[in-house]
Amino acid sequence: MDMSDLSSRHDFDVIIVGSGGAGLSLALSLPEHLKIAVLAKSHLTDASTYYAQGGVAAVLDQADSIQQHMDDTLIAGAHLCEHQAVQHTVEGGKASVDFLLNQGVKFTLDEHEQLHLTREGGHSQRRIIHAADATGKAISTTLVERIQEKKNIQIFEHFIAIDLITLHKLGHTDQDNRALGLYALDERTEKVHTFLAPFTALACGGAMKAYLYTSNPDIATGDGIAMAYRAGCRVANMEFNQFHPTCLYHPQARSFLITEAMRGEGAYLRLPDGERFMLRFDERAELAPRDIVARAIDYEIKRLGIRHVWLDITHKSPDFVRDHFPTLYARLLELGIDITREMIPVVPAAHYTCGGVVVDDNSQTDIMGLYAIGETSYTGLHGANRMASNSLLECFVYGMRAAEHIQQQFNDPIEYPHIPAWDATQVENPDEDVVILQNWDELRQTMWNYVGIVRTTKRLERALHRIEMLKKEINEYYQGYHVSKNLIELRNLVLVSEMIVRCAMQRKESRGLHYTLDYPELSNELRKTVLTPPNFQVRTPLVNEA
Ligand code: FAD
Ligand code: SIN
Repeated sequence: MDMSDLSSRHDFDVIIVGSGGAGLSLALSLPEHLKIAVLAKSHLTDASTYYAQGGVAAVLDQADSIQQHMDDTLIAGAHLCEHQAVQHTVEGGKASVDFLLNQGVKFTLDEHEQLHLTREGGHSQRRIIHAADATGKAISTTLVERIQEKKNIQIFEHFIAIDLITLHKLGHTDQDNRALGLYALDERTEKVHTFLAPFTALACGGAMKAYLYTSNPDIATGDGIAMAYRAGCRVANMEFNQFHPTCLYHPQARSFLITEAMRGEGAYLRLPDGERFMLRFDERAELAPRDIVARAIDYEIKRLGIRHVWLDITHKSPDFVRDHFPTLYARLLELGIDITREMIPVVPAAHYTCGGVVVDDNSQTDIMGLYAIGETSYTGLHGANRMASNSLLECFVYGMRAAEHIQQQFNDPIEYPHIPAWDATQVENPDEDVVILQNWDELRQTMWNYVGIVRTTKRLERALHRIEMLKKEINEYYQGYHVSKNLIELRNLVLVSEMIVRCAMQRKESRGLHYTLDYPELSNELRKTVLTPPNFQVRTPLVNEA
């Protein structure tokens, strides 16, 4: 980049990295006098939020209560959830639903024109609002329309945040660390831009592209978690990766989820001989929490040497199936499966990152001016296993809360120290990109084989050994060559994979999503696994820790 090119410096009040539920709810909740940038790695709707099927959990029914939703969350989370975060989130359910309705999201209504509530695993009540089986699409397209109408919000699609700019990185270590913005690559021009603001929010989604088989879109490479850690933020509970029990097993459909709401509406899981095997594993059968169902499927697949199990909703009337699951019905019909008459081949796949950047109830991280929201964050809500449809809820509750906090903190524009432009004078064009592809494949294969649904200490050690080698090679490549989207993502993914393994090695028990044959029992000690970066600065504790 031309070092004198000031046109690539952008000044804002708030920079939001991410255009999923978390980033957009923050953007739409901030006052209109603030100048806001929203960056997205791809186009705005390319986010996990868009692909959500099941819905958003909230206490809306007379028969339901805040206490029941909290209890269900704590049980699903294998009692590792932080009580305060659970209460904060569940109590924010109604306001989140109102926010979405006010933005114009059209949810499915029942015969009395009330919001239709469906059910998913772990929920003792019907409490999931949804837009048929394409809830994320309804939310994402509506929120994207709203931000496109806002004059104070500037959108930067195909901009990939590379790293945060902080006071400490600039050498001002005598002062409290503070985020000042970030560098981001414009994928289309291959130019790196400098974005500056007193407030930056990482709403970059999760990291399940670390695994070979995943329900996640390609953007889910853990960029927010990796950027925050490198800048000096603590990261917690990365060992808890949720595997969704029912992803389609089909050669022509990659990453296609079959919503848990199908089991919520009565679908059965069956073995090739027709047995409803979940009854052998848990009295809640198909509606047991996800960790239990995914592990049972994994066990049966390995025991019988089969490639998948079956999901069966053929006992419901064809009209019921088509009404409740129109998107799935149409998509599977295209693939030659009529779900009103035929069973669906399904396997578990990596789905959700329960851990993330440690934040408080205001979504604040360890660094002043830096927020993390949604799947990037660790709020304490999910504990050892996220309950279905709690994550979109978390995005909205914490997105709105971050907006309030930023408003309270907003003073006069800050005086920036000298901010160097991105320096690409010492790097060259890569000689061969196959290195990136090779390392990417190796990493995801390693994570799938050694850090999957069932772990052992030996497998984790093997994984760490390989990841350390890959990290060294990738970092050398990063130092020597121009950045590209693939390289930025791979650098982040290898760091996040290392975090997953390091957290898993610290947990000497089996709890929730972390199951190891070497420590099959629950420990009496309830603790989160925290990774503290070498450049972490102890400052005023976050509000939850005060
Ligand atoms: P995302 O929606 O993933 O958005 C991330 C954003 O960050 C994207 O815009 C991306 O471009 C941007 N980004 C990332 N890195 C960078 C970077 N370096 N620079 C610039 N931009 C960047 N949860 C529920 O509660 N209910 C459900 O029914 C449900 N169904 C799901 C179905 C599927 C198939 C999947 C994958 C997940 C589902 N989940 C569901 C989980 C839920 O969808 C996600 O946890 C949630 O949408 C995450 O929202 P987010 O805003 O944190 O991240
Ligand atoms: C699903 O629809 O099964 C996904 C719900 C979730 O991940 O919360």
